[in-house]
Amino acid sequence: MPPRDFPLEPFWMPFTANRQFKAAPRILVSAQDMHYTAEDGRRILDGTAGLWCVNAGHCRPRIVQAIQRQAETLDYSPLFQMGHPGEFRAAGLIAELAPDGLDRVFFANSGSEAVDTALKIVLAYQRARGEGHRNVLIGRERGYHGVGFGGISVGGIPANRKAFGSLLPRVDHLPHTHNLERNAFSRGQPEWGAHLAEDLETRIIALHDASNIAAVIVEPVAGSTGVLVPPKGYLERLRAICDKYGLLLIFDEVITGFGRTGRAFAAETLGVVPDLITFAKGVTNATVPLAGVIAHRKIYDTIVEQAPPDTVELFHGYTYSGHPLATAAAEATLALYHEEKLFDRAHTMAARFEQAVHSLKGLPHVIDVRNFGLMAGIELEPAPGKPGTRAFQAFLRCFEKGILVRVTGDIIALSPPLIISETQIDELVGTLGAVLREL
Ligand SMILES: Cc1ncc(COP(=O)(O)O)c(C=O)c1O
Repeated sequence: MPPRDFPLEPFWMPFTANRQFKAAPRILVSAQDMHYTAEDGRRILDGTAGLWCVNAGHCRPRIVQAIQRQAETLDYSPLFQMGHPGEFRAAGLIAELAPDGLDRVFFANSGSEAVDTALKIVLAYQRARGEGHRNVLIGRERGYHGVGFGGISVGGIPANRKAFGSLLPRVDHLPHTHNLERNAFSRGQPEWGAHLAEDLETRIIALHDASNIAAVIVEPVAGSTGVLVPPKGYLERLRAICDKYGLLLIFDEVITGFGRTGRAFAAETLGVVPDLITFAKGVTNATVPLAGVIAHRKIYDTIVEQAPPDTVELFHGYTYSGHPLATAAAEATLALYHEEKLFDRAHTMAARFEQAVHSLKGLPHVIDVRNFGLMAGIELEPAPGKPGTRAFQAFLRCFEKGILVRVTGDIIALSPPLIISETQIDELVGTLGAVLREL
């Protein structure tokens, strides 16, 4: 291995055990298609599409060239009060993929910003239609909506909240839907748990009154908490209660967007249409940061039309809301998804993937396997008194054996690029199985 020409200490790593990592670093230096190359030259099969985002595989020439061309043509243009062609084209392509009626696209740079943007849009919308008292936001336990103050407030991951004070006021949470006794080893959507959506009506609306609630935000399939698939009928009930009481429904599709579930959005796969969708990650195949909110046209119209003519309608935006490099990457990525029919491919491969991951049932410590589209969670029994260590050991051994998996607590998550082959599914799951047997 060549000597490193960089120091490890100055960089404060995100969501990482810095001391542990710096004592035994895992450095990736290049990537192509389904593989990373580690600094010692080993090829690592990417079982996680980076961080649930490299849906078309790595360093795809078409996307690389589009970014290169854009950098030479228009590197940056001011995005407030000025426009460039790419942002309009990219918004149009994204709107085409979204469910009917959701066709107004606001750009941000990260999933966290997309979530904050969506929360601000719903508050602005309620105010614009004369319902400004509707300002309570409802999230869900175990939900992950990024790390902005909005996202951690509606999010339900205790470790992401506990050090950061009082967060947003006027937030409440639905119960999560995870239940090992009822649903362990479900294939696809679990049978039990639709009634958990009724907590919105029987507890939350009863407590806060519907007239005070702006919106509900959930991940249609919760990813970062360890792949929690919605029980059959759950999202339908959530939608029905939102409609009954005039609440907006936001699907955070930062992970599930752009083919992960076998369709463009999980809203389509699951047959439930929200009022707003947040997206990020796969929109540019993770080459250049881009994220955003797709809003129903009624929301855009209401906010825009209530403002006096010739004035800014929504006081919100980022210096890089629709950066030319990002929108060029998005255009090329969406063209690639279309040409290679990658969403259909994910749909087809999902059956094989399901079969493979469920073969892990019965291996030591495995207490649940769950899956949807090209996402799977394998839950391990925590080591006594040391939660999280067992899955982390599995992650380290997987990396030694040449596969990249992701762990959250004692759950191992898989979400490979949509180009994964049957042989690579077998390699990924076979290697993970071997590691679990050795643990
Ligand atoms: C559902 C969801 N929302 C928001 C985010 C935050 O995205 P980012 O890390 O780009 O801020 C994530 C990241 O994984 C996510 O999974």
